[in-house]
Amino acid sequence: MSLYDVLPAISTSFIAISAILVAIGWNLAIKRKLEAHKKVMLAGAVAALLFFIIYMSRTVFVGNTDWGGSDEMKPYYLTFLFFHIVLATVGAVFGLTTLTLAFRNSFAKHRKWGRITSVVWLFTAVTGITVYVLLYLMYPGGHTKPVLDVLFGGS
Ligand code: HEM
Repeated sequence: MSLYDVLPAISTSFIAISAILVAIGWNLAIKRKLEAHKKVMLAGAVAALLFFIIYMSRTVFVGNTDWGGSDEMKPYYLTFLFFHIVLATVGAVFGLTTLTLAFRNSFAKHRKWGRITSVVWLFTAVTGITVYVLLYLMYPGGHTKPVLDVLFGGS
């Protein structure tokens, strides 16, 4: 297995782990186990951050992978990719807002934002895992090129 295969598998696992933690953390908040809710949600945020760090390092140093499957499947893949990118961006902004509200003790607002953030993050994970399955498991990935090579003309 090369670096091309390992990094996306690791970063996708972190999205899945963080979504599971968010689901558990939400359940804990509903049951009013608030200290446990705090710990589990913070762990979920760390998993999301690790995903982001691995994903960004891969984008810069290894590159993004082209679609390697059939032309008929490409629009479906691009649709999932588009929703995944939009959801992940919204999820990151909402996640930071939800955390800030919690640490400022604005719990009424935190509760409202937290519900939306959790739903957005769960959909981010589902679309992210779908993109991974389509791009790496169902079809051979296409060409991969580092962003730095694109910018500065490496091989
Ligand atoms: C990004 C991370 C977090 C998310 C997505 C999140 C999400 C949520 C959600 C969805 C609820 C409402 C549950 C419901 O009634 O349906 C909630 C409630 C709550 N959360 Fe979080 N949470 C996060 C982090 C935290 C942290 C770090 C703390 C503590 C510092 C915290 C403290 C609370 C408290 C005290 C409530 C109860 C609020 C109330 O019912 O008035 N949360 N959270």
